[in-house]
Amino acid sequence: MAAEQVLVVDVSDLSRGSTRALEHAGRSILLCNADGEFYAVENRCSHAATPLTRGRLEGCLLECPVHGARFDVRDGAAARRPARRPLNTFSVAVAGNSVEIRVG
Ligand code: FES
Repeated sequence: MAAEQVLVVDVSDLSRGSTRALEHAGRSILLCNADGEFYAVENRCSHAATPLTRGRLEGCLLECPVHGARFDVRDGAAARRPARRPLNTFSVAVAGNSVEIRVG
């Protein structure tokens, strides 16, 4: 069985309402600071597979910059069409100014 992989990210400069795209092992992950709580979702809209990097984060809702679908970053749920399928999510743990993202 493969060992679990954890990505450690310094979030001291990631302000509330901001996101940061991270690359790991060929996949793109979007780390979100949703009003002080951190969540990580796959950086790929489930509607047309485009990056969500330039999406707007309001509270826990991330809006896709292409067609305006919204996702709840807490669980990846599609909250507004045209997206119907959820985003993949990754569990995170906060330790001081670092966030650990379980990616594997
Ligand atoms: S690509 Fe995201 S809503 Fe269409």
